Amino acid sequence: MEAFAIARVQLSYASIIATPAGAERFATAFYTALWSEATGIRDLFPAGMVSMRQRFATAIGWVINRLHEPAPVERFLGQLARDHRKYGVEPVHYRIAGNALLVAIRECTPPILWTAALERTWAEVLDRVVETMASAAATDDLPASWGATVVGHERVLPDLAIIRLETDSPIPYHAGQYMSVQIPQRPHMWRYLSAAIPPNPQGQIEFHVRRVSTGWVSPALVGEVAVGDRWTIGPPLGGLHVDFDSGEDVLMLASGTGLAPLRAQIMEMAMRGNNPRVHLFYGGKYPCDLYDLETLWQIAMTNPWLTVVPVVEEKENPYWNPVPVKEPPPGLHRTMYGKLGKVAAQFGSWADRQVQISGSPSMIRTTLYALSAAGTPRGNISFDPL
Ligand SMILES: Cc1cc2nc3c(=O)[nH]c(=O)nc-3n(C[C@H](O)[C@H](O)[C@H](O)COP(=O)(O)OP(=O)(O)OC[C@H]3O[C@@H](n4cnc5c(N)ncnc54)[C@H](O)[C@@H]3O)c2cc1C
Ligand code: HEM
Repeated sequence: MEAFAIARVQLSYASIIATPAGAERFATAFYTALWSEATGIRDLFPAGMVSMRQRFATAIGWVINRLHEPAPVERFLGQLARDHRKYGVEPVHYRIAGNALLVAIRECTPPILWTAALERTWAEVLDRVVETMASAAATDDLPASWGATVVGHERVLPDLAIIRLETDSPIPYHAGQYMSVQIPQRPHMWRYLSAAIPPNPQGQIEFHVRRVSTGWVSPALVGEVAVGDRWTIGPPLGGLHVDFDSGEDVLMLASGTGLAPLRAQIMEMAMRGNNPRVHLFYGGKYPCDLYDLETLWQIAMTNPWLTVVPVVEEKENPYWNPVPVKEPPPGLHRTMYGKLGKVAAQFGSWADRQVQISGSPSMIRTTLYALSAAGTPRGNISFDPL
């Protein structure tokens, strides 16, 4: 697709979702159109759709903003469609969704801007989106989900748990990926979690979960999950990875449980002979938020390609977790103070690095901004889309 056509749909979508209310209106128009296309589709969805609508608009936005990079777009849409099989979504549903998407885009565009050329370009883009999803869903021979048993649940902070499971058969993920999980305490509420260890033939997997106090599922993950619980886990998603062929060194930035996918990659690299240099900036508000620092220090002590830079905003731990602050072992990088992105950007441009960011959506936004402002090209930076 030519650059001018791509810019046309990007501008059109940006104006539709310029405000949260715009994104909400677009997603509502899409679901209304989708459900009216065929009976039975509404039954696939939960009753409450608020956060769903946000995630749908974000996913479409991620795709539209990367139309000039067909490979990651195709990978993302393919993974999303394979993951959708666990909801009972069939390839035929995507063709219906293509019409519903076009209806929603038209409804949310002022009539004066809706030209025949814009309609044609949108139809071409949406056709490509739904065909990619339909063919990925039709050709996949992996299971739609895996069963797994909880074998360990450790509360490492009042609001953070490390959960270990054994899957009934190994899930073919690669270090850096995430999956959707469904737990018996919250049926039908799937949430994404990142694997914190690389895959292994025993099917062992580990997740690090932080409680979001207003959330539905994370409080149960941290407070109610018990050894012996049976989980359902969806197929692997996400594209965070180190490109070993590029010859470029690596910059990783993680906050909180965003560490998980980066830690899995570092653990896998520790099993390889030859690695690029990796700088990991690991951030949190308080020193105790860096709950896995000792594991990282241990890896850094025996793997000279890894530098771990702890970054915190406060020097002392909070009154509600008054544990002693740990000092880095001799020879390892000292702790730095401030916001993660700003601290990493103090070192100037990281233009010669492949960069991965992992954390909450707001952390990703502010870190992206700080790195770009200091001269790191956006094209070098990867993060998971939703
Ligand atoms: C690619 C990806 C990987 C993820 N990996 C992990 C992981 O390894 N470990 C982990 O703990 N979580 C991870 N998450 C987040 C996780 O999927 C849930 O969104 C989170 O646990 C909150 O779920 P909930 O049901 O408790 O909250 P919800 O009921 O979904 O949300 C309740 C409210 O909290 C807000 N909210 C949701 N998440 C956050 C947040 N992180 N910070 C602040 N406010 C929030 C929502 O916008 C909403 O207003 C990941 C998310 C994505 C997209
Ligand atoms: C056309 C492109 C589509 C995109 C980009 C898309 C995107 C998404 C996203 C981002 C989620 C949220 C996943 C999560 O956070 O757990 C989701 C969930 C879901 N989607 Fe889609 N989707 C598409 C089409 C469809 C179609 C055609 C159907 C069914 C006919 C469908 C059914 C569902 C269901 C049932 C859920 C789960 C809702 C829940 O339980 O919370 N989707 N979709």
